[in-house]
Amino acid sequence: MSRDIRRVGVVGGGRMGAGIAEVCARAGLDTVVCEVDAMAARAARERVSASLDRAVRRGKLDRESARDALARLAFTQALEDLADRQLVVEAVVENADAKTEIFAALDKIVEDPGAILATNTSSLPIMRLGMATGRADRVVGLHFFNPVPVLPLVEIVASLHTAPGTVEAVEDFATRVLGKTVVHARDRAGFVVNALLIPYVLAAVRMAESGFATATDIDAGMELGCAHPMGPLKLADLIGLDTVASIAESLYDEFREPLYAPPPLLQRMVEAGLLGRKTGRGFHVYD
Ligand code: CAA
Repeated sequence: MSRDIRRVGVVGGGRMGAGIAEVCARAGLDTVVCEVDAMAARAARERVSASLDRAVRRGKLDRESARDALARLAFTQALEDLADRQLVVEAVVENADAKTEIFAALDKIVEDPGAILATNTSSLPIMRLGMATGRADRVVGLHFFNPVPVLPLVEIVASLHTAPGTVEAVEDFATRVLGKTVVHARDRAGFVVNALLIPYVLAAVRMAESGFATATDIDAGMELGCAHPMGPLKLADLIGLDTVASIAESLYDEFREPLYAPPPLLQRMVEAGLLGRKTGRGFHVYD
């Protein structure tokens, strides 16, 4: 088991992948981010660079450390470039087929048999991803929260096959190396946070859908009445409405409880491409 993880790979350079890559590079690790094509790889680099600049502006990081972090990052379109990694964190779209395909490919590519393959999935079974590989004992859920450089939590999810040593290694990595706080969850859809968060967000969508209150008032209610940093519909826009819908579907598939069923308005907004911040419009409009 590779306890001293120095070389990390991240598959997917969207908001979550870029954030995970940023915290790894800021922790001094050699980090390779794999994206689908050159344009996506460039966008991932820009995402990390913009976030590092923001950290400098907010006084969280000095310029030299930001430059050093960027220098520790490489961006590629070839999964083969992750061959020498000791830990790979997959952070692509919340789609079971896409993730399964990546795990099967990583299993063949990543050379060190002790290397750990982790997934940032919010809701899909870790077991199924493990079973797509020949090393289910080294497959684990490592679920970060958005924005990754800001939020301290990581959920660790062991499947029925994950070895205790794998859990220890990623816990050590998340806490000692990245400085995060860990909670452990069993391998069932939603883990701890999304099992609680998503029904709340869906209730807010239903409230807006019924015309009971406006999106602005629903958000103001929770921000000003309950001191949440952002209301549920702003949060849905931050997460991405496609991701919210995918997580809701996984939860509904697993538990068949109406509170997890994605409301029609959410489905229609996803079909319309109104995905939240990343497309400039969701429940709110962004510049
Ligand atoms: N690196 C380090 N620190 C950074 C940073 C960066 N790149 N960018 C911002 N920060 C720091 C700021 O310096 C600031 O710190 P202080 O409070 O110490 O000054 C803090 O982060 C907040 O930043 P801002 O003031 O710029 O922004 P804000 O006050 O408007 O907060 C927010 C923005 C952090 C997103 C806040 O609104 C928030 O926490 N919202 C809730 C987010 C949330 O719930 N996320 C979970 C989503 S669910 C998920 O991710 C899981 C899933 O599976 C769906």
